Amino acid sequence: MTAAPSLATLAPDSLTVRRGTRSFARRAAGFGPSPWAEVGPWFDRHPDPIFFGNGAPAPELVPVARLREATTRAWADAPGALGYGDVAGYPPLRGLIGARMAARGMVADPETLVVTNGSQQGIDLIARLFLDPGDTVIVEGPSYLGALQVFDAYEAAYLVVPMDDQGLDVATLRTMLADHARRGARPPKLLYTIPTFQNPTGGSMSRERRETLLELARLHGIVIVEDDPYGELRYDTGAPEPALRALDPEVIYLGTFSKTIAPGLRVGWMALPEDLVEPVTTAKEVADINNERMTSRVVFHTARGFLDGHLDRARTAYRARRDALLVALDEHLPSGSKWTRPGGGFFVWVTLPPGLRVDRVIVPAADAGVVFLPGAWFYPDKRDPFTLRLSFSALPPDRIGEGIRRLGGAISRTIDAAV
Ligand SMILES: Cc1ncc(COP(=O)(O)O)c(C=O)c1O
Repeated sequence: MTAAPSLATLAPDSLTVRRGTRSFARRAAGFGPSPWAEVGPWFDRHPDPIFFGNGAPAPELVPVARLREATTRAWADAPGALGYGDVAGYPPLRGLIGARMAARGMVADPETLVVTNGSQQGIDLIARLFLDPGDTVIVEGPSYLGALQVFDAYEAAYLVVPMDDQGLDVATLRTMLADHARRGARPPKLLYTIPTFQNPTGGSMSRERRETLLELARLHGIVIVEDDPYGELRYDTGAPEPALRALDPEVIYLGTFSKTIAPGLRVGWMALPEDLVEPVTTAKEVADINNERMTSRVVFHTARGFLDGHLDRARTAYRARRDALLVALDEHLPSGSKWTRPGGGFFVWVTLPPGLRVDRVIVPAADAGVVFLPGAWFYPDKRDPFTLRLSFSALPPDRIGEGIRRLGGAISRTIDAAV
């Protein structure tokens, strides 16, 4: 129940993948059925399910009126904008992104920025540029499911580094790299990390860890990919940790407007080290010829003079949702359960009482009207059967409270049934 079933079986020669009468390329094994397909039946078990799986902004925080106005302004440009062009993206938008990144201490010359079809495309372009089949990618355990799907599609191997309350455990990574080298394996090429308000744990890497990680990566010649969709969604006071890119301009940085404006726009970006601008731009050209030229105008006209105020309102709303979730977990989860207390982002990561597997809770929870994502989905080898991810961004506080009451009841009944 917790692992997405594999789409296709490898043929005995491992060169093609057979599904029905089709012979797909070997890499098609990485295109399993979307794990989201597994979620559908869980919804059907209750007339009013509460879904904690949606890592999107609250619908009521999508600035529709502003987007509508911005669209009118974007269309004023239309005659010049509707041909091919702009592989790296609409220059004024790159200027705006560069200024916002600079304000957060990052080196981000607009010439080193490439606008992408969401940050998901940035992950894909990096993977297609760097990974041969069998190359090793270092990821946090757990990590963002969508990135793992990309790396799987390029037939990556993994080093999965554990995390603690200060983020990726760099000391363990050091040992893992030494073991990897001792085995004579090809050195890892990429390290993909979400250091700030991580998906799925909500955790953040401490400043010290960030610096040690950068040193270690330099020592081993590993390219760091910093995925940062949630860095501007910070709910607690105090100084934020610097982005990895602010500490080292050699880091590839991925940003997005999906969480700060709306995911349906599909506008994200990459900030690159200078020598990667040309190969990434060419890879983007090969993938889809050039950037779309209308939505990035809409995003530019929406964001300019508006985004900071909008983010203040969004942070206030998300802080209330995060707090409602933490209070409800305290009140309703049985003793022995543990969870993270994120300072920002959209997610809380729950560990069930010792020995209780999440696949025993999914159906009782769905029957009680609460649906969430199993933690195993966030590991390349689905190794962790005892955790689950809760997103709080898209649910009003009263639904969060009711959902966690239902979840707590389902967990307690499962435990009671076992004794
Ligand atoms: C860590 C992480 N990276 C990338 C994405 C995808 O973002 P985009 O909509 O910009 O492609 C998400 C979305 O959930 C995410 O959580």
